[in-house]
Amino acid sequence: MPRGSMNRVAMNGSLTMTEHREQKLEKKKNVEQQIRQLSSENDPTRTRREYKQEIDQLKKELIVTAWEKNRIQEKVSFGKRTSLPISQQRKELPVYNMRSKLIESIKANQFIVIVGETGSGKTTQITQYLNEEGFSENGMIGCTQPRRVAAISVAKRVSEEVGCELGGEVGYNVRFDDRTSRKTKIKYMTDGMLQRETLLDPMMSKYSVIMLDEAHERTVATDILFALLKEAAKARPELKIIITSATLDSEKFSKYFNDCPVINIPGKTFPVEVMYSQTPQMDYIEATLDCVMDIHINNDAGDILVFLTGQEEIDSCCEILYEKVKTLGDAIGELVILPIYSALPSEVQSKIFEPTPEGSRKVVFATNIAETSITIDGIYYVVDPGFSKVNSYNPRAGMEQLIVSPISKAQANQRKGRAGRTGPGKCYRLYTESAFYNEMLPNTIPEIQRQNLSNTILMLKAMGINDLLNFDFMDPPPRNLLLSALSELYNLEALDGDGYLTKLGQRMSQFPMDPTLSRVMLSSVTNECSDEISTIIAVLSVQNIFFRPRDKQQQADRQKARFNHPYGDHLTLLNVFTQWEKAGGGQQFCEINFLHGRHLKRARDVKDQILSIVNQLHLPIVSCRGDVDIIRKTLVTGFFMNAAKREPSVGYKTIVGNTAVGIHPSSSLFGKEYEYVIYNSLVLTSREFMSQVTSIEPEWLLEFAPHYYKAIDNNSKSRKKLKLAPLHDRYAKNQNSWRLSSIRQSREKALGIKR
Ligand code: CDP
Ligand code: MG
Repeated sequence: MPRGSMNRVAMNGSLTMTEHREQKLEKKKNVEQQIRQLSSENDPTRTRREYKQEIDQLKKELIVTAWEKNRIQEKVSFGKRTSLPISQQRKELPVYNMRSKLIESIKANQFIVIVGETGSGKTTQITQYLNEEGFSENGMIGCTQPRRVAAISVAKRVSEEVGCELGGEVGYNVRFDDRTSRKTKIKYMTDGMLQRETLLDPMMSKYSVIMLDEAHERTVATDILFALLKEAAKARPELKIIITSATLDSEKFSKYFNDCPVINIPGKTFPVEVMYSQTPQMDYIEATLDCVMDIHINNDAGDILVFLTGQEEIDSCCEILYEKVKTLGDAIGELVILPIYSALPSEVQSKIFEPTPEGSRKVVFATNIAETSITIDGIYYVVDPGFSKVNSYNPRAGMEQLIVSPISKAQANQRKGRAGRTGPGKCYRLYTESAFYNEMLPNTIPEIQRQNLSNTILMLKAMGINDLLNFDFMDPPPRNLLLSALSELYNLEALDGDGYLTKLGQRMSQFPMDPTLSRVMLSSVTNECSDEISTIIAVLSVQNIFFRPRDKQQQADRQKARFNHPYGDHLTLLNVFTQWEKAGGGQQFCEINFLHGRHLKRARDVKDQILSIVNQLHLPIVSCRGDVDIIRKTLVTGFFMNAAKREPSVGYKTIVGNTAVGIHPSSSLFGKEYEYVIYNSLVLTSREFMSQVTSIEPEWLLEFAPHYYKAIDNNSKSRKKLKLAPLHDRYAKNQNSWRLSSIRQSREKALGIKR
């Protein structure tokens, strides 16, 4: 489309486009030559500084020259862009031509697999076709998404297309945010939410059709739903299951779902030219920013999509690029810089879908959410540094880590494809060709084979599924992951020695959160501090409430320090929330104190929902009125496995696993020297850091987790000298504690493992 027809602009100017271009190119050549000359010149009467200044001046001219060329082209391309009415847009999508074939096939089969390029209209259209065909008369049309952002944004789009309000005929349901009503016929939701629904309604009786979208992402919840829905379908022959996927895993899916038919939606894609880095990049952030500037200055019109690994990286890239562009001022054309990641508020997210203003270029910095979940129109350039953040559980150390890892070949190709939707595009791979062919794995490893499964297993157990070895996994998790999840649940007393759900575990499964947190929540009922603990858990469940703008970091840190509780972050969070509520829960308080008002409001909603579950369980909501020790003790009942002891030379060492860790600089305990602490999670940046840390007394570990810790060298009565060791190390060879073997036996019995 737009980029071919450049000569047309010349009509209103005196120069034709080609003449204009030639003149500019001539000028560019001249300037480049002058620069070369100056660089090799060596006049003793001139200082190096003078040379540099002159060269810099010339370089700026060069940018202007290159950019002017683009600006003219951009006017052409964006001038031509028209916005079709929605009904027309729907008809332009590749899936539209397949409508009747799809409907026929769904009517004739219980399972079907649909494969199609991202952007072909699977997510937004198929649900509407089914609705239009009357499927919703026998129950809702449900569609799952691996990510909450996608579920929300797609529901918004479809409600616009249908012409109803969001939450009416079209709605969504994600954790702690339900926008559906009695009227809802098309429901988008995260796969995690549907998995939760199976707890109460294993037959999926509210649905006539369920579409497991983005199945190739292979999230734990989607993998579990594969098996649960297959089971539900057996009992309900009228229930239809659709599995959609963007890549070529279709055969595997079809085989799993009783050799069901696979329907391909032919997409319209354009060729994408791939450029590899000549050498491996030492700093992919720097390389990324250079690459974006280079495209912006030297390439034809078209928006840029950059794949980064996470929010922090994206925010700081946006800021750095913004500064760079600002310094160059009018020398270069306008660049609209936008971030997209799950945690972004949806108003900001929807900005990426707005057409780029005339005469400017858009660059979107995205996580892998933009690989398949969402489609941004107008992308001609993709910059792919080759990394993504994956959640990986290390059962040996008992910890979950978000690790920046190389992507798979399939992912790299998916990223590349994003540049070829509107016209022939370019993909800049910031790694070498050899790395692509020789080092990258062909496919991404399913999450179920690398994540902590305690939450999932708790839910399965709550559904009465005890025999995990014979569960119909598409790809079964490795045995050590299963065992460590069972161990964790046993240690939290959610399972008994035989691997069956305890009453506590049954209650824990009602809370949509990590078992550690649901355990803490339930202990708080017994310890009479459920009001405070529900606040802490709610604030932990939302995005960071502290606002720390780059240009006012010190000021923000000073404000934050005023909330710091001497015992640590959990109490600090409680402090902030309580003071914000006391002040009326308004925005002014947040502005003065560098807080995200929106996140605090969300925490209040989450808290209400947690308390409503407590209510449903007929448990009391009680406040301890500021008794910080009872709050800390309650935290220990869940977080005892995440305990660390101070080791002067290295900072801290975890008690389980003996890993050297530090207190994260953002923690209110940073620089403090408590002997024992517990933490929420470990984050790996320059080193392993504990995040959300609270100081504790070591004897609490013995008091609340006597099944987990023992005291060693305990001759001295001094608290400081009290030493603890995990009672059992699941993986140590010479462990002969009877407890270990009994736990292991019961675990294996539950799993049906024979020695
Ligand atoms: O699911 P699939 O990737 O096949 O496509 P889709 O998500 O149904 O998107 C089809 C089209 O709808 C995209 O090309 C976008 O133009 C549009 N869309 C949108 O404008 N806003 C959204 N939130 C989602 C889709
Ligand atoms: Mg889709």
